[in-house]
Amino acid sequence: MTSLKLATNNKSLTGEITIPGDKSISHRSVMFGSIAHGETRVTNFLPGDDCLSTISCFRNLGVTIEENGGELRILGKGFEGLTEPDEVLDVGNSGTTIRLLMGILAGRPFFSTLVGDESIAKRPMTRVTGPLSKMGTAIDGRKNGAFTPISIRGGKLNAIHYELPVASAQVKSALILAGLQAEGETTILEPANTRDHTERMIRKFGGKISKEGQTIRVEGGQRLSAASVNVPGDISSAAFFLVAGAVVPNSEIVLKNVGLNPTRTGIIEVLKNMGAELEIIQTEDDSFEPAGDLVIRTSSLNGTVIEGELIPKLIDEIPVIALLATQAEGKTVIKDAEELKVKETNRIDTVVQELKKLGADIEATEDGMIIHGRTKLHGGVVSSHGDHRIGMMLAIASLLCEGEVTLENPEAIAVSYPNFFTHLESLIH
Ligand code: S3P
Repeated sequence: MTSLKLATNNKSLTGEITIPGDKSISHRSVMFGSIAHGETRVTNFLPGDDCLSTISCFRNLGVTIEENGGELRILGKGFEGLTEPDEVLDVGNSGTTIRLLMGILAGRPFFSTLVGDESIAKRPMTRVTGPLSKMGTAIDGRKNGAFTPISIRGGKLNAIHYELPVASAQVKSALILAGLQAEGETTILEPANTRDHTERMIRKFGGKISKEGQTIRVEGGQRLSAASVNVPGDISSAAFFLVAGAVVPNSEIVLKNVGLNPTRTGIIEVLKNMGAELEIIQTEDDSFEPAGDLVIRTSSLNGTVIEGELIPKLIDEIPVIALLATQAEGKTVIKDAEELKVKETNRIDTVVQELKKLGADIEATEDGMIIHGRTKLHGGVVSSHGDHRIGMMLAIASLLCEGEVTLENPEAIAVSYPNFFTHLESLIH
């Protein structure tokens, strides 16, 4: 573990950056390329640690994947082309890899074991192992299938109707991937709209899936065909620079190629509600994944309330939204966000603990946090806790701090944004 001394305040942020590929879509491009028939090409793939874990798992399942600086060539042979791995499948830090992979392996007639790092070992898996058992797969793990290591002996699956107890795209996607291999039609009721990249990807690969009201329907036994996937930039990565541009004095940042899927744009709604000077230039509006360029300027901001159905549309952005709120006039309340407790870290605790060290007026609640602004931040020694989004939020916070900030364990940032510091430095003037 290393630590990094970060730039202090009195700087402005100006210039243009191209946001790296979306993490959720990059994972799915590898998975769908592997379970489809034929040669899939992926461009603007995110070569972050999490997505590289997905590639390594699928290589262990017998799929040929060539990776060359963000471009992939995947030789898919259908679900039936996957073969029993000789090694334990290691998902590293990636919740998306393990949960979606469970859905794929549930229908495969062989044995596999899944493990990950310390953080993965604490994250709840019953939400996936429970419904997959109901579909007929032999799946188990520590504490009755609640935690890694997970073992699966897949096989014939029955379609089920399942009402998701939590709004989770990972759980929904695992059940869709199992449903594609099941006998009959699987229906999934989601309590709120969550990111729909899996559904869009199925259509891209020639499959069918529908949604009426909150119910998703998918038929088993579909044959998917290879596709060309161009991954848009990750709005969850762009979020750090959107916040930075809004709060650092005399700033104007252009963010190129940001994914604007409406299930992910909660951060834009919040910035607008708080009064940010944000311009959106939509450049790509195809049926796959919309994308566009964003321009953000230093803004005067007011507090807001973030709750309900907005939460799944910005769940990963809450750490940096908390920082944003420290620079807004008045009170910001974030509620209905208990899912934060089971992310890479307990993000209610890690956000509150680390921002307090820099002088923020922030308190944890049962399902979120309350922030009073506007506060001057000061220097200190802070930690990412091994969580990429906490690390990036703190690096952005350092731009506002009077005094030096030392960030412990900055390496975690490579999970989703390997060139984060290069981009940040290129904007500082
Ligand atoms: C993701 C879904 C979300 C999100 C995660 C990526 C996905 O998790 O927090 O970073 O790619 O499906 P949940 O489904 O647990 O909410």
